[in-house]
Amino acid sequence: MATFIFSSLLLLLILSCANSIPVTSSEQGDDYLVSTRLVSNAAVEKQSHFRFYCHIIVNGSNPTAVRVTAASGTNKSSTYFGLVVLMDDPLTTTPDVNSKLVGRAQGTNAAAGLYKVEFFMAMNFIFTDGKFNGSTIAIFGHNEVFSAVQEMPIIGGSGLFRFARGYVLARTYSRDLMTGNAVMQFDVFVNHY
Ligand SMILES: *[C@@H]1O[C@H](CO)[C@@H](O)[C@H](O)[C@H]1NC(C)=O
Ligand SMILES: *[C@@H]1O[C@H](CO)[C@@H](O)[C@H](O)[C@H]1NC(C)=O
Ligand SMILES: *[C@@H]1O[C@H](CO)[C@@H](O)[C@H](O)[C@H]1NC(C)=O
Repeated sequence: MATFIFSSLLLLLILSCANSIPVTSSEQGDDYLVSTRLVSNAAVEKQSHFRFYCHIIVNGSNPTAVRVTAASGTNKSSTYFGLVVLMDDPLTTTPDVNSKLVGRAQGTNAAAGLYKVEFFMAMNFIFTDGKFNGSTIAIFGHNEVFSAVQEMPIIGGSGLFRFARGYVLARTYSRDLMTGNAVMQFDVFVNHY
């Protein structure tokens, strides 16, 4: 036990030294490199799970998702191939659109599947509330719209989410077939520091 505690302390000491000592490089051909520091990711990286609801509003005079362009064949395609949509959807704490607003999902969806409805997606979650106000999470990747759970990769972020990575699980909470409006539940698993 004592040995274990001692070696843990030693490891901590080594890690904390490694964090604070700049490693200056003196090799040839790197005169534009100012410094490189050892970083110990494992010691400080944490994973947060967020859950919020995204409101995709396509009807009325204030839609949050709009069609911006399409290919000449899009209307004849059963997969909407060539369609490009831009969105700025509110994110709230519950499925009720009037519940607390925590941020927005801004970005684009492009129908990129010839044989299935599949979107190529680039989107940011921009938080506007609480501790994460002003921080963003960047999502980029494939979105298979009609699968029960849509998984999308998190490839980065800003503010408190610098160097973020992770994934988003999206589920359709409700869809109004008359209007096309939808409420999505987003479970966000994000590793950050
Ligand atoms: C849009 O659809 C929603 C239902 O999803 C309805 O409550 C709302 O009144 C509609 N708005 C307009 C402007 O048609
Ligand atoms: C395709 O359909 C959309 C919406 O129904 C319409 O606005 C657009 O003009 C159509 N495009 C073509 C090329 O027919
Ligand atoms: C979020 O930050 C902005 C800019 O600093 C500030 O104006 C706004 O009041 C903040 N919102 C909340 C809900 O804290």
